[in-house]
Amino acid sequence: MMMTPGLRRFTFTAHITSSLGWVGAVMAFLALAVIGFTSDDELTVRGAYLVMAPAAWFVLVPLAHASLLSGIALSLGTTWGLFRHYWVVLKLLITVFATVILLIYMGTFRQMAGVAADPVVDLSVVRNASPIVHAILALVLLLVATVLGIYKPFGMTAYGTGKQPDQRQAFSPAASRPQAPRTAAPHTALWVYVAGIIAIAALLLFVILHLLGGSLSHH
Ligand code: HEM
Repeated sequence: MMMTPGLRRFTFTAHITSSLGWVGAVMAFLALAVIGFTSDDELTVRGAYLVMAPAAWFVLVPLAHASLLSGIALSLGTTWGLFRHYWVVLKLLITVFATVILLIYMGTFRQMAGVAADPVVDLSVVRNASPIVHAILALVLLLVATVLGIYKPFGMTAYGTGKQPDQRQAFSPAASRPQAPRTAAPHTALWVYVAGIIAIAALLLFVILHLLGGSLSHH
């Protein structure tokens, strides 16, 4: 069932706010993880790991679910469909994967908070590189989803192509008149996107390692 223009705009607003809010929140978590890993101040280090779990429950988990649900609603309520275009299918896979990993990682956040809360535990044990690595990987995935949402690459799935005649029937008033053959819009090869994504990931990792002064190994 197609959404009314008003409902589509409302859902689209919710989708953009939650999806890009999630991207921004992961950036804040990356900063928190770097502060916890590098700060010389004991209270700051313990504080960083103590706040990650509650902050993730209040911010990351709701935003992830809102992005996923609003995305599915937008897909099913518009002519995009859920399985008709590769960019929607890829975003669905990325978002489901990222949300499941986040829910599993909530256990790790709780564990790190437990270690940070114990004053007997040495600071070198409290410091943990894992949230830095997970935040970088999450950021790369969410940036890929953002790029997919805006560029909408890779065309239609076989299922979508199969559905297309129905749509043309439904939407072109002059369906009786033969349609001019559509020339396929030039699109960028898959490897260009993959190369771009790998380059962004490598650059992010290099910058972070540089910031940390290559000290990931000793913790
Ligand atoms: C972290 C995850 C996600 C991010 C960052 C994201 C980002 C975006 C962005 C930036 C747009 C706007 C593109 C434009 O201006 O046309 C968009 C549109 C859209 N997204 Fe997502 N998205 C995410 C997840 C999803 C999921 C899981 C689905 C579906 C299962 C989805 C389906 C859609 C659809 C159908 C549109 C087009 C809406 C329209 O034209 O009205 N998105 N998304």
